[in-house]
Amino acid sequence: MSAVDAVREIEEQARAGLAAASDERALEAWRSAVLGRSGSLTGVLRSLGELAPEERRALGAAANRLKGELEAALEARRDELKQTALRASVTAGALDVTLPGRPLHRGRYHPLTLTLREILATFERMGFATIEGPEIEHDAYNFEALRIPADHPARDMWDTFWLDSGGEWEGAGGLLLRTHTSPMQARYMETHEPPIRIAVPGRCYRYEATDATHEWMLQQVELLVVDEGVSMADLKGTLQEFARAMFGPERRVMMRNSYFPFVEPGVEIAVDCFACAGTNPSCPVCRGSGWLEIMGAGMVHPEILERMGYETERYTGFAAGMGVERIAMLRYGVDDIRNFYQNDLRFLRQF
Ligand code: DAH
Repeated sequence: MSAVDAVREIEEQARAGLAAASDERALEAWRSAVLGRSGSLTGVLRSLGELAPEERRALGAAANRLKGELEAALEARRDELKQTALRASVTAGALDVTLPGRPLHRGRYHPLTLTLREILATFERMGFATIEGPEIEHDAYNFEALRIPADHPARDMWDTFWLDSGGEWEGAGGLLLRTHTSPMQARYMETHEPPIRIAVPGRCYRYEATDATHEWMLQQVELLVVDEGVSMADLKGTLQEFARAMFGPERRVMMRNSYFPFVEPGVEIAVDCFACAGTNPSCPVCRGSGWLEIMGAGMVHPEILERMGYETERYTGFAAGMGVERIAMLRYGVDDIRNFYQNDLRFLRQF
């Protein structure tokens, strides 16, 4: 076989081998067998020196051209294999872009959280500081300091969960789950001097049967303002401002006489019905009365201010307490308080 035939044969075999190589390992084996240090074409190039000058020139040119071509063919084959692999992986993990997307379930706030935040934000705008107090409370703060002694009939207003304190707190009348946020009035005044302007959010507990408007656990926000010259007008103005922020700028508030042992006079605050403004005798929100009771309030009883060591000639104050559930029920049209604590997603997703 002439040297030229030998090169042609190398070329044929090399091209066939390259076409058959189907992965990177096969390509590398091929490169080493043809173009490597002891590869077939390298062998030819190396043996050129043994040839006569004429033959060497002809064969040398052919062999070098072939070397260049095969190197280019190797790269081309490598690219081709990469393309094939890419296409295979794309088809394997194929996306059907016409399928509906998977919904993202975003968390959301509980309606009571939304309501509470709005209540507090409204009072913060009016300069109230938000303060929290203990849920486990002494009789001394929950009742005694608020002028509700043990034998007082007003205790019936708050059915109480009493705690067994092992006799430790008997001096303070025993421990209980606070029935309202009002005890923070006494706790705060005990340690602070006027001017006072606080809002106290918190959970309260009542030992009573649950129904559509009563839960054994509820959230309240208490307000306390003590300063020089605080009057009923401040009470009404502040609560009217609040009612308008929560229920609409047109709202009017009404004060009706009421009784709470820690205020004098005591009032019930009602806002005119935001659904019908008193025009619909069969309104489902106000049941035709035209008014919605939203909280209890009053002027802090001077006896309490005196017990706190305040100069009662100089300082007066007002207090108020509202139920967050009640406000939320009115705002969102919820007709059963028990919905708030049942964790039923069908209910919660509406807010
Ligand atoms: N603590 C009362 C309750 O739970 C609500 C209340 C009424 C709070 C009048 C007050 C107030 O501060 O002045 O029913």
